[in-house]
Amino acid sequence: MKNILIIGSLGQLGSEIAIRLRQLYGNDHVVLTDIRSDTNQELIASGPFCVVDCRDGKALSDLVVKHKIDTIYHLAAILSATAEKNPLQAWDVNMNGLMTALEIARIHKCALFTPSSIGAFGPTTPKKFTPQDTIQRPTSMYGVSKVAGELLCDYYHHKYDVDTRGVRYPGIISSLTPPGGGTTDYAIEIYYAALRDHHYECFLQGDTYLDMMYMPDAVNAAVQIMEADPSKLRHRNAFNVAAMSFCPEEQAAYIRTHIPNFTISYRVDPVKQAIADSWPDSLEDYAARVEWGWKPTYDLARMTSDMIQTIRKRMKGEK
Ligand code: NAD
Ligand code: SER
Repeated sequence: MKNILIIGSLGQLGSEIAIRLRQLYGNDHVVLTDIRSDTNQELIASGPFCVVDCRDGKALSDLVVKHKIDTIYHLAAILSATAEKNPLQAWDVNMNGLMTALEIARIHKCALFTPSSIGAFGPTTPKKFTPQDTIQRPTSMYGVSKVAGELLCDYYHHKYDVDTRGVRYPGIISSLTPPGGGTTDYAIEIYYAALRDHHYECFLQGDTYLDMMYMPDAVNAAVQIMEADPSKLRHRNAFNVAAMSFCPEEQAAYIRTHIPNFTISYRVDPVKQAIADSWPDSLEDYAARVEWGWKPTYDLARMTSDMIQTIRKRMKGEK
């Protein structure tokens, strides 16, 4: 049985990874931490939880020893759009948080999962079917921290034999916990606006293609890669994982199959548009498929049906 520590467990990804890991390994075997405690009360109450800053190595080490932790999911980060507003804070949290987790993993011999992102690519990266191993010269602070993070995780694996593993997530779409300040957040807001107002004003241009993934697949990726046979892993930090690629116009067309009078207009945010334009349109994920059996289950049609059904129920006050 694993004993797992999640750092940044109340965010969009952390809250759903935490639920799945507690289902798989037992509530008491999955210790949650975050810098805040003002959200997801049901999750907090379901097992051990501590308010800890991800840069506080002493507090996190104490938790690792107390709970005999062998696996860490490090999910605390400042996302792309927020990072461009305060690059120094983003560098501090993203890099010093990761270094803290890596040092704890090294000292206490823990496996470490931490996500990279499509943000780790830049304008000189091949835009379509972006390969696993390619040019990575991002132009956002978020992207710079993600490339540095991938390199650091590989360094800790090669130099200290720490079992570091990661994926490059596309934009993640979900309905349980709101997204944390990313460029891809439009693809979630659009569903709420469609159901509430039958209209959405999008902050990206209608023809901006980006890779996206529905949360159940993102959670599967996080669990599967940590269960993978290490002898099969030629890559580690970090695997491209893909599920679907679409632009706001296409997403709106799929929403119209459920809400025929839905309309979309555009008021472009230049900072977010510049970030989106610097990212790939679509990723190629052959290495993840071959090395640990990655296979997504949701496409745009299936995800749209599920998002609309789930949000509609929640708006009516049903579970
Ligand atoms: P999020 O912003 O929703 O959640 C991050 C969590 O970290 C929050 O609960 C926040 O309170 C916590 N946090 C922030 N600063 C902290 C600190 N100093 N100490 C401790 N906790 C702190 O982000 P997310 O979407 O859940 O992303 C998780 C990871 O996945 C990040 O590394 C992110 O870069 C990566 N990722 C996310 C997406 C996406 O679309 N959501 C896509 C690619 C990669
Ligand atoms: N969804 C994330 C963001 O937009 C991608 O890493 O920041």
